[in-house]
Amino acid sequence: MAVRSVVLAAGQGTRMKSAIPKVLHEVAGRPMIRWVLDSLQGVELDQVVVVVGYGAELVEAALPDGVETAFQEVQLGTGHATQVALDHIGPVTGDTVLVMAGDTPLLQAPTIEQLVGLRSRTGSAVSLLTAEIPDPTGYGRVLRDPWGRVVQIVEHGDASAAELSIQEVNGGVYAFDGEHLAKALSQLGSRNQQGEYYLPDVVAVFSAQTLSLSALRTSPEELAGVNSHDQLAEVEAVMRRRINREWMAAGVWMEDPERTYVHADVTLAPGVRLYANVHLEGATNVGAGAVVGPDVFARDSDIGPEARVWYAVLREAVVGEEAEVGPYASVRPGSVLGARSKVGTFVETKNAELGEGAKVPHLSYMGDARIGRDANVGAGTVTCNYDGVEKHETVIGDRAFIGSDTMLVAPVDIGADATTGAGSTITRDVAPGALAVERSTQREIPGYADRRRERQRRKVEET
Ligand code: UD1
Ligand code: CA
Repeated sequence: MAVRSVVLAAGQGTRMKSAIPKVLHEVAGRPMIRWVLDSLQGVELDQVVVVVGYGAELVEAALPDGVETAFQEVQLGTGHATQVALDHIGPVTGDTVLVMAGDTPLLQAPTIEQLVGLRSRTGSAVSLLTAEIPDPTGYGRVLRDPWGRVVQIVEHGDASAAELSIQEVNGGVYAFDGEHLAKALSQLGSRNQQGEYYLPDVVAVFSAQTLSLSALRTSPEELAGVNSHDQLAEVEAVMRRRINREWMAAGVWMEDPERTYVHADVTLAPGVRLYANVHLEGATNVGAGAVVGPDVFARDSDIGPEARVWYAVLREAVVGEEAEVGPYASVRPGSVLGARSKVGTFVETKNAELGEGAKVPHLSYMGDARIGRDANVGAGTVTCNYDGVEKHETVIGDRAFIGSDTMLVAPVDIGADATTGAGSTITRDVAPGALAVERSTQREIPGYADRRRERQRRKVEET
């Protein structure tokens, strides 16, 4: 007896008012459909089929390799979508068919397993997942008979006032007996408020046939479906709490977990300290003892052990061990900051390597630059890397000292231990150990203040 799983993901998600298919909206940096498929990975299954339709190519591209899809050309409802999946699978007599939606990203593997277990234990035609929710608006309501047995699901739009007051809702996750499912699907009609074939209508078909039905109640949190941006934000908040709790259990300190945004693929070492308003996205890794925040956005970046990063934006950047970034720094793609290096206040780097201990403390732009060990770049230094057509490289040797307000017109090479005078525009290479100064000689006019005052006094007398 096989367990086959069907994930419904063909709908557009009209209520999202968005061109991208609903199941591709992200929660903690991962498309919703991926969360559903990831939780299915924790369940023993013989087959997984995703029903795609609206934006099929986009949805397929977001699926892990090797996931089977069935194509629902016109979205005639969840019952019809399930039929499309069964047409793809073939005969399911003797099998369990697990059906769920691609828009319930908080659902977890143990709950799905329990549901499958409940059905096989009770031999029910269907076991469905339900929850009591304070505001059941939009969900199908679970109707039970006086003995508490599930008899029907009524969709929100089709419900009477009395039915609308029911707080137990259908989670849209079902473990079916394959044979019963296949038969019941062929009996569904579409005479309802939405003019669709509703999958939950098979519940009424089963109870009319006095087949046994069972339900598993779970937490409203786990069952939450996303139909609107409002619900997406709620789900995001729950996921954020879940992720942050896990990291805290793993030894990460968070000043304010409600304002700490760690996406699903990020890794944090024990002993990391995160102040409020830190956003860590993509494949970002943070090493042990690093202190990040307040106010940091980092995507696809590595922050080394014991590094200190605050009020900064990092994209595809590497921050070495004990390096310092910020406050107010923009570390752009290709920036590789060596151990104990520093990118300070109002500094921007792009495709720039800083050697160990190299420092760019204030108001500078380092683009397409290789900066040697222990070099010091003075305030207001700019690598003039772009001539309007091409980008050129600046090389600064080990221990070089770049005076404040130096314009380094690339391509240019400053030798090891060389110095540039403050305010210089450097257009030619500087030899190791040399001093390069480029500025006009300072003139001095003695007694200027007295003469100016005298001139002004005479002007006043003339008028
Ligand atoms: C559905 C249930 C409702 C339940 C709720 C739980 C139906 C009719 N109603 O309502 O009882 O409380 O889920 O979240 O099933 N889809 C297709 N093809 C279609 C239509 C939908 O693949 O033709 C997919 C959608 O992409 C979505 C899923 O099925 O992932 C559910 O559809 P949706 O429109 O979100 O149903 P709800 O109104 O939320
Ligand atoms: Ca839904």
